[in-house]
Amino acid sequence: MKVTNDIKYIGVNDHDIDLFEGQYEVPLGMAYNSYVILDEKICVMDAVDARFGDEWIANLEKELGGRKPDYLVVQHMEPDHSANITKFMDTYPQAAVVSSQKAFTMMKNFYGSEYEDRRVVVAEGAKLELGKHVLNFVGAPMVHWPEVIMTYDSTDKVLFSADGFGKFGANDVEDPEGWACEARRYYFGIVGKYGAQVQAVLKKAANLDIQVICPLHGPVLDTDLAYYLDVYNTWSSYGVEDQGVTIAYTSVYGNTKKAAELLAEKLEAAGQTVEITDLARDDMPEAVEAAFRYDRLVLATTTYNADIFPFMKTFIEHLVERGYKNRTIGFIENGSWAPTAAKVMKGMLEGLKNIELLEPVVTIKSALNADSEAQLDALCKALIK
Ligand code: FEO
Repeated sequence: MKVTNDIKYIGVNDHDIDLFEGQYEVPLGMAYNSYVILDEKICVMDAVDARFGDEWIANLEKELGGRKPDYLVVQHMEPDHSANITKFMDTYPQAAVVSSQKAFTMMKNFYGSEYEDRRVVVAEGAKLELGKHVLNFVGAPMVHWPEVIMTYDSTDKVLFSADGFGKFGANDVEDPEGWACEARRYYFGIVGKYGAQVQAVLKKAANLDIQVICPLHGPVLDTDLAYYLDVYNTWSSYGVEDQGVTIAYTSVYGNTKKAAELLAEKLEAAGQTVEITDLARDDMPEAVEAAFRYDRLVLATTTYNADIFPFMKTFIEHLVERGYKNRTIGFIENGSWAPTAAKVMKGMLEGLKNIELLEPVVTIKSALNADSEAQLDALCKALIK
């Protein structure tokens, strides 16, 4: 597949994976992207997951037309991309591997070799001339591992963005929700903790004339790049993407669920966008994504073992770990004899920046009644204000 006249796509699609990175459900599969730049020197950009080595080499061979590659650029050492480095280096003994110093250390630890006599170590500002094409290396530490580099081809104005601008989903199926939904779930799940580091890379990218973004997952982006750069800027600065309320709940016997659903109805009746999620049954990374997408969040859970219900605890930990900020949060607690869930949740959120905690807290003692429904109405009003 052609990216530009000299750059071809040689990646693979994975429809067999159960959980990406051991935790993310990917109902549309996953793509491990790789590219080849055909010039006087031939350069391959990243490898693919372990299970796809033969397919990847076959894709590469189709583009080589009998020539041999000179370089393998390794931008990121996570095994979904690096697992076939050894296969490549064994198949093409004349080739050198190009990567950051940190990546070579990881290469040795993962695969037993750092190719001392077949390597080019690059850092921020280094260049690699292929003939007509010049590759410019950009440090991207912690996006989302420390060794990551990105690569700008200043001839075709292509940014190879490593995991940046990636999304869940294979490239041979159409995503019915478009790019943003699974790209957002991917971003907040995997990169979300490292907003400051993504901001640093975006600042460098702002000085480049980028016509095409080639990520390591998901489609090649070659139209409307301002949109993708803008949405990445919002996500990485923890900005609000859309006005709306995420209601995240857990419910043991359905009473907390009833309250969460009633609040959703009331908010929707008032014209608000609402995303409601059962943290025990729905996809947790979708809930995390929604919490970062919208400006307001309601946490509804039961008191449990003098603490809170486990799925809510995990959800809040996901938010805290990713530096949740700049949002408004309301609470619904349920407890049959000593409701303390709101206190526990507030305690977990302490220390987050620019978070407004809404009053009133809705306290349900087992099941909704006139008193707690009145509190729900007041919370609804506060959320809309
Ligand atoms: Fe796609 Fe961080 O590996």
